[in-house]
Amino acid sequence: MDIYIREGILTPDTFAGLRAACGMPELEPELVKRAIASSLFTLSAVNGSRTVGMVRMVGDGAFVFLIYDLLVVPLWRRRGIGSLLVEKAVGRARAFVPPGRAVVVSLFSVDGREGFYARLGFTELPAPGMGAGMQYFCL
Ligand SMILES: CC(C)(COP(=O)(O)OP(=O)(O)OC[C@H]1O[C@@H](n2cnc3c(N)ncnc32)[C@H](O)[C@@H]1OP(=O)(O)O)[C@@H](O)C(=O)NCCC(=O)NCCS
Repeated sequence: MDIYIREGILTPDTFAGLRAACGMPELEPELVKRAIASSLFTLSAVNGSRTVGMVRMVGDGAFVFLIYDLLVVPLWRRRGIGSLLVEKAVGRARAFVPPGRAVVVSLFSVDGREGFYARLGFTELPAPGMGAGMQYFCL
């Protein structure tokens, strides 16, 4: 399949291009730049000189790890690239903390994608002993 996962090469233009290819609305360039700069790390799925997928990990690098912006362009889907990006991101998060210390990686699934993440080992919330994720929107 000739796909390589590379860390730290994601540019704002590539991020914007991937979002556009996935049919997502454009974001403010300044905020995209800040989002990349403030991420713990970004991983890009690369074929030759083209980036066909990405994932971003945000958090504090100690206790909080949150997967955001998992994107694979439509032509390259259903070949395992999305799963590979998530697996690599989890592995990379693990390297942030000392051996033996648990790492909890969280994410928000889009509606209907929960099974994809469950197959990769994520637990759907709420679960016994754990409440639902919650969000607060304000303008
Ligand atoms: C979600 C997304 C990242 C998945 O990327 P992907 O590269 O297609 O992911 P995978 O190939 O690893 O897995 C996708 C499906 O293809 C299947 N698959 C993987 N390799 C396959 C192969 N060789 N042949 C057939 N099916 C395959 C997987 O089992 C999985 O099945 P599922 O949808 O029933 O869970 C992609 O669809 C996407 O970018 N969507 C738009 C953005 C989005 O919704 N992001 C997620 C935010 S939560």
